[in-house]
Amino acid sequence: MSDYLGIDLGTTNSVVSHFNNGQLRRVKFDNQEIIPSAMFFHSADKIYYGNMALRRMHQYPHSGIKLFKRMLYNPQSFKEIIYQNSPHSQPLQLTGKLASTMFLTYLREHSSTQFNVDFRKAVVTVPDNFNTTQVELTKLAAIDAGFHDVIMLKEPIAASIVYGLTSQVDKNILVYDFGGGTFDVSIINIGQQCEVIATGGDSNLGGEDITLDIVQYLCEKIEDDYNLFLLEPSEKFEHNQRILYDAAEKLKISLSEFDEQEVCFSVYASDNNVVTINYNITRQELEDEVLRAINGKATQIVRKVLRDADLLVDDIDIVALAGGSSCIPVLQQGIANALGKSPHTTQSLATVVADGAAIRGGDGQIQKVILENVIHDFGVRIGDATFDALIKVGQRLPAKAVKCYRPTAANQRVINIDIFARESGCLATRTFEDGITFLDNIRFENLPECDDMTKLCLEITFEINKEYYLNKLETKLYDVAGNEICSKNLKCISVNQSGGATCI
Ligand SMILES: Nc1ncnc2c1ncn2[C@@H]1O[C@H](COP(=O)(O)OP(=O)(O)OP(=O)(O)O)[C@@H](O)[C@H]1O
Ligand SMILES: [Mg+2]
Repeated sequence: MSDYLGIDLGTTNSVVSHFNNGQLRRVKFDNQEIIPSAMFFHSADKIYYGNMALRRMHQYPHSGIKLFKRMLYNPQSFKEIIYQNSPHSQPLQLTGKLASTMFLTYLREHSSTQFNVDFRKAVVTVPDNFNTTQVELTKLAAIDAGFHDVIMLKEPIAASIVYGLTSQVDKNILVYDFGGGTFDVSIINIGQQCEVIATGGDSNLGGEDITLDIVQYLCEKIEDDYNLFLLEPSEKFEHNQRILYDAAEKLKISLSEFDEQEVCFSVYASDNNVVTINYNITRQELEDEVLRAINGKATQIVRKVLRDADLLVDDIDIVALAGGSSCIPVLQQGIANALGKSPHTTQSLATVVADGAAIRGGDGQIQKVILENVIHDFGVRIGDATFDALIKVGQRLPAKAVKCYRPTAANQRVINIDIFARESGCLATRTFEDGITFLDNIRFENLPECDDMTKLCLEITFEINKEYYLNKLETKLYDVAGNEICSKNLKCISVNQSGGATCI
C-alpha cells in the first residue's frame, strides 16, 4: 500500500487521490471527489470545510475564507476572521500559509479516516509559476498539517503523468491548465524520462477572474436596462455583489454546456427596494463580450511557450487539458486553432492533477524519471557590480556552478557578496527588479594584505539540489599561488517567509 496521498491544493477546489497497485481512488467529501477550498469558522473549535463552508459564508462572509492560495503570493497579507458565534472575541488572523495548513490538516485527517490509514506522506502540487517562496510556504503548510514527508510537484507535470507517462515513445505534451486562480501552459517531453521544456502562464488569470468579468458585464447591462448602478457603493453593495457573483458563476458553467441560459435574481436598489433581474444570455454573447479577450491572452501565452521551447506546432503530439475553466468551449477552440489539433478531453479535467500526484507518490518507477529544470536564475552581486547569474533558468536539477572573481581594487580589504534568485520572467509584467529575491549576504572582512589584491581569486560554488534548495554555497579566497586564504560556507539556504534567508 502506497503511503502517499496526491493532493491538488487548488485556488477554488481541492482534490485528494491515492494510487495503489495500479488503481486510483479519490477521497470523497460530501459524496463528491472535489472539495471547494473554503473554510468557515463557527467558533475556534468548530470549523466547516468545502461546500458547507461556502453555504455559511453567504450569510456570514466575514467568518469564512476562500481563495487563500492566492494569498501565498503575498506572505504578509492576511484575512481577519470573525467567529460566527462570538463576533466580539479576538478575530483570527489567517495568512495564506496558516489557512493552507488548516485546510491540509482537514484533508489529511478526512482521508485517513476514509481509507483507514494514518497518512503522513503527501505529494502536493503547486502551479508552475509559483516562485521559491510560494513553493516553500506550501511545503511548510503541509508539514505543519502533520505530513512528515512532502514531495512538491508542479501541476502540469502531475497532469502530464496521467496523460502520457504510460507511453514509451517520445512525445511532446502541451499541458493547458486553466484553473480557478491561475493559468499555466507547459510543454513536457515524455520518453524514457519526463522533462519540462518550457513553461509560461499568468498567476492572475483564472476562472475566478472570468466570473468577476461576467459580474462586471452584467452590472453594465443592468445599468443600461434597469437604470440600477450596482457597481457604485451602497448599503447593500456586498449583498448585491454576492448575488451577482453566484449568478455569474452558474451562468458561466451552464454556458459551457448549453447555447443559451436564463438568469434570474433579485438585487437591492439604492432605495432598498428589491428589483428582479431577468435575462436570457447566449453562449455567443458571453464569448463576444467577456471571453474573447481572455482567450486572446491565453492563446498568446501558448504561442510564447511554443517559441520558448523552440518547437513548431507540428512538434506537439498531445494537447492535454487540465483545470475546470478548460471546459469552456471557446477556450478549447482557441487552443485547437492555435495548434491545429484538438485537445484531449478524455480525462477528468478537475481531478487530473491530483491523480498525477498520487501516481507520482505511488509508483517508484515514475519517481526516478521526472527531470526538473531550474526555474530561477541564481547568482551573485559582488560589491556594486550588476547581478551575475551563475545558475540559469533551464539548467537540469541538481545544478552546480563554480565561478571565480577578482577583487577590483589593489588595496581592497573587504569583499561583499549578495546572493539572489531571479524569476524566470514567465510573467510578462514582471520587471527585472521586482522579480528578484534576496537570499543572503556573505562578507569577507579584514582580508590579509597582499601586494595586489586584484591577483586574489574568489571562487564561488553554487549547488541546487533536486528539492530546489540552494544546498551548497561555498566561497573560497585563494592567493596567487593557489593557496586558500579563507572560506565561508553555508550549508542549505531556502527562501523564508519574509524573503530573507535561513541557514539550516
Ligand atoms: N463547466 C465549466 N465551465 C466553465 N468553468 C468551469 C466549469 N467547471 C468549473 N469551472 C471553473 O473552473 C474553476 C475551478 O477549476 P479548478 O478546480 O481546476 O481550479 P483550482 O484547481 O481550484 O485552481 P488553480 O489550479 O488555479 O489553483 C472555477 O473558476 C470554476 O468556475
Ligand atoms: Mg488546479
